[in-house]
Amino acid sequence: MVVGCGIMGVLSFNFGSGKPPKPPTSEVNRVQEQTSPSHKKSADPLSITDVPLATGDEPIDKLFVQSGCPVCHTIPGIEPAKGREGPKLVLGTNAPLRMADQQYQGTATTIREYIQESILDPGVYVVSGYQDRVMPRWYGKRLNAKALDRMVSYLERITD
Ligand code: HEC
Repeated sequence: MVVGCGIMGVLSFNFGSGKPPKPPTSEVNRVQEQTSPSHKKSADPLSITDVPLATGDEPIDKLFVQSGCPVCHTIPGIEPAKGREGPKLVLGTNAPLRMADQQYQGTATTIREYIQESILDPGVYVVSGYQDRVMPRWYGKRLNAKALDRMVSYLERITD
């Protein structure tokens, strides 16, 4: 009788887990010390992107000019605003079309909200035919609520 000596052995090829251990995702969290009551800025110079662009009390055309929008946008009724880097701002007409676009992933449901979103978070929806990352992303830091509100109120009324 042949007794199969079935010692197959346990060939345990240990391929390991396949992946090297994850490096600790060190969140570079540059939380600045903002607890100091000192008004001195010498130790921590302001970055240019922190400087407010307007008070919000300027005449509307000045408000747009100071904010730099005319460099890239044509805005009907704002004389110097003849820019062509971005779309002509006729949001009364275009905002509903953007929100209805299948590519639209933002949260706006009104023209007003769409304009706010476009200014504060331009990457949420990039108008077809235009480049992302051209419109600055720092408007939320450099425009106060009043300035933003007045621009939005102006823009929402413009139709093509
Ligand atoms: C350096 C150029 C640049 C500047 C400055 C700029 N934008 Fe834009 N903007 C763009 C471009 C390019 C787009 C289209 C791409 C996109 O949707 O992000 C755009 C898109 C928009 C849209 C969406 C338009 C649409 O038809 O759906 C709005 C609203 C807007 N900008 C408002 C403003 C306002 C208000 C300012 C000033 C506070 C401003 N932008 C400053 C380049 C600029």
